[in-house]
Amino acid sequence: MLLRLADIRKEYAAAGHKKRILDGLDLELDRGQLVSVTGKSGCGKTTLLNIIAGITYPDRGKVFINDKKIGFLFDCSLSRRRNREIGLIFQTFRLLDNESVLSNVFLPARIKGSIGKETKEYVYEILGKLRIYKYRKSRVGILSGGQKQRVAIARALVNRPSIILADEPTANLDKKTSVEIFDILEELKDEGKALLIVTHKEYMHKRSLRVFNLENGKLAVL
Ligand SMILES: Nc1ncnc2c1ncn2[C@@H]1O[C@H](COP(=O)(O)OP(=O)(O)OP(=O)(O)O)[C@@H](O)[C@H]1O
Ligand SMILES: [Mg+2]
Repeated sequence: MLLRLADIRKEYAAAGHKKRILDGLDLELDRGQLVSVTGKSGCGKTTLLNIIAGITYPDRGKVFINDKKIGFLFDCSLSRRRNREIGLIFQTFRLLDNESVLSNVFLPARIKGSIGKETKEYVYEILGKLRIYKYRKSRVGILSGGQKQRVAIARALVNRPSIILADEPTANLDKKTSVEIFDILEELKDEGKALLIVTHKEYMHKRSLRVFNLENGKLAVL
């Protein structure tokens, strides 16, 4: 199994009392699978993605990638593993607006090490596929929402991760652009990647292997 979550719990303190966000959540996701997650605002979808990515630590429970347990405490290799194996597309793009498209997209590769010819060629190829190649030297700040979303996707792909996590990747886009973005994500599934997409869009649910509703801290099949 590429990704497995077992009995994940997470609480946050809110206004003096603890609020349980995730409560014994389980999930399995394998290569070539695209799964969607929906659920009310504040139910914990972003928290879930952040836990998988190792950005937020769970209070309890285990995360396995390729059947290897991810240690959350004192694990210096965590961020390195995340950088290599997981591509994250954030709810807000979290791009550097004053930097160029290329500089944004290369960032995770730069963190990993030096950028070789192969990585450069790969980036040009994905920018081409995403139809933003001509903007490669432009400052991200001047791009439209849909174009920024494509830059965020390219950045998530640069290290060729096996798992892609996308947090409402088309929330602010018109229907045509969202369908295009979804087509791109679906193509990644066909390349053998595993995708977990937070989305409320029904046409994306229809094209997902499974749709989960995050409710009462657990994922329920819709
Ligand atoms: N760092 C934090 N400290 C305290 N509470 C937090 C923190 N992060 C999230 N929360 C709370 O946890 C709950 C879940 O937040 P999360 O962002 O995961 O929800 P979500 O399902 O992604 O919502 P949305 O659909 O609005 O994006 C919310 O009540 C939020 O206020
Ligand atoms: Mg969210």
